[in-house]
Amino acid sequence: MALTIGVPRETLAGEKRVATVPEVVEKLIKLGFKVAVESGAGDAANCNDDSYRAVGAEVIVGAPALWAASDIVFKMGVPTTGEVGLLREGGTLIGFIWPAQNPELMQQLAAKKATVLAIDSLPRTLSRAQKMDALTSQAGVAGYRAVIEAANAFGRFFNGQITAAGKVPPAKVFIAGAGVAGLAAIGTAASLGAIVRANDTRAEVADQVVSLGGEFVKVDYEEEGSGGGGYAKVMSEGFQQAQREMYAKQAREVDIIITTALIPGKPAPRLITAEMVQSMRPGSVIVDMAAERGGNCELTEPGKSVVKHGVTIVGYTDLASRLAKQSSTLYATNLFRLTEELCKTKDGNIDVNMDDEAIRGLTVVKEGNITWPPPPPKPSAAPPAKPVAAAATPAAKKGGHGHGAASEPMAAGKLAIMFAIAAVLFWFVGANAPQAFLAHFTVFVLACFVGYMVVWNVTPALHTPLMSVTNAISSIICIGALVQIAPPLAGGVPPEPWIRWLAVGGIALTAVNMFGGFAVTQRMLDMFRK
Ligand code: NAI
Repeated sequence: MALTIGVPRETLAGEKRVATVPEVVEKLIKLGFKVAVESGAGDAANCNDDSYRAVGAEVIVGAPALWAASDIVFKMGVPTTGEVGLLREGGTLIGFIWPAQNPELMQQLAAKKATVLAIDSLPRTLSRAQKMDALTSQAGVAGYRAVIEAANAFGRFFNGQITAAGKVPPAKVFIAGAGVAGLAAIGTAASLGAIVRANDTRAEVADQVVSLGGEFVKVDYEEEGSGGGGYAKVMSEGFQQAQREMYAKQAREVDIIITTALIPGKPAPRLITAEMVQSMRPGSVIVDMAAERGGNCELTEPGKSVVKHGVTIVGYTDLASRLAKQSSTLYATNLFRLTEELCKTKDGNIDVNMDDEAIRGLTVVKEGNITWPPPPPKPSAAPPAKPVAAAATPAAKKGGHGHGAASEPMAAGKLAIMFAIAAVLFWFVGANAPQAFLAHFTVFVLACFVGYMVVWNVTPALHTPLMSVTNAISSIICIGALVQIAPPLAGGVPPEPWIRWLAVGGIALTAVNMFGGFAVTQRMLDMFRK
């Protein structure tokens, strides 16, 4: 029997978003589900009751009736105690839960024998989980809106203009923290024509900043800022001092500062002091996106826009909700993608498969049992650990088995033995093989070596574009194989049949690579098409 997905009206004051929109309701119904929406749930996001009815959803008046009719509830905001009370015994809830911050809520949900999928607990580093990543989609909207709020409070153009009335210089925008929200803000501010600079403790984001039209400003202090999993770590006092000096210089130069710096589970780092605010030109704007977590700026008042020392400091904590239609549509799509994963049979039923890494990470309560936190993720395709780090744990290394041992750099002794064996083999081939074979063999070995070094030194994140580039190599293989298959020129000796068949096999294999390469290239180009 088809399950009913219910979408209640959000109860948090000022929340304008809704967990699904009519465009997505259609897709959910195609997956075999019934959809029920509480009357008025989408009003603030420009989705009225009729628009839901038009695509086949049932509109139910009142929260108690809606929750009672729902097998699965889609929600945006963290549920209140009252809402948990309305959830059906053994029901399923999908939405933001923040299990670490809400232990009481987790107990209440467990007592209801519920199954709860916390969208905030999605393992974000899994590439196939990106389509379900609501934190990213919401932070992207918020980053965009932060720039729009800044533009609204700022008294000048963003872009430089030469008009009959005189020359207008472009606005200078500094973005602190280039995570999801920061990158969205960089792209938006750059597209409005501002000069954009950005800083982050994770040096690896510098290229992304540049690709979005910004300039990466480095802190003059050497320290690795990555704490793993795409998140930052708390930096040393020396680094923080150097960073403060750089930020103070930027504050004197720029018109707008947007701060997004955050380390998960920690209060927001204080990056903009009262003196820095004071040093900014009157009319400047600061948008502090980390306001909810204490703020990156000392003078921020969460939830408010205030003017201090002539500088407007915007501390809104509902930036994504201020673009309700957009953020609701993206969130609804994230939940739809998750539902697709849960309902592979397309029959309106769900299977919470705990063997699936993404689903396991999301599921914080399963049929009344708290399953959070999930076991640590399997080691991903991260860059290899620096030798310094490896040397720091010699004792652990010796006894290491399993994953740890597998990911360690090869021991020097083992490497020497392998080199010795390879040298003997090469000597054997060199001493016994015919001259013609030897020439080809040398080229083959060198090609393998060069190929290995080229591919393995590319960051895993770039393997997809690499695949499209390797089309050139595949075509060389193809030409080589065609020469072997083609009839010999007059007077030539045809190759042995087995060589021809080998060439046919070579073409078949390389064709997989070539067509794959074209498909990947097409997908990449589609991402840039408007
Ligand atoms: P994220 O984790 O992707 O990005 C945070 C970035 O800050 C990371 O790149 C990190 O390396 C960087 N960072 C950490 N400490 C730093 C330091 N001391 N100096 C420079 N950079 C530092 O997080 P995301 O998703 O981009 O969110 C950013 C902020 O925006 C968070 O505080 C989040 O709560 C907030 N947010 C606010 C909303 C609102 O309505 N106000 C809506 C959505 C997100």
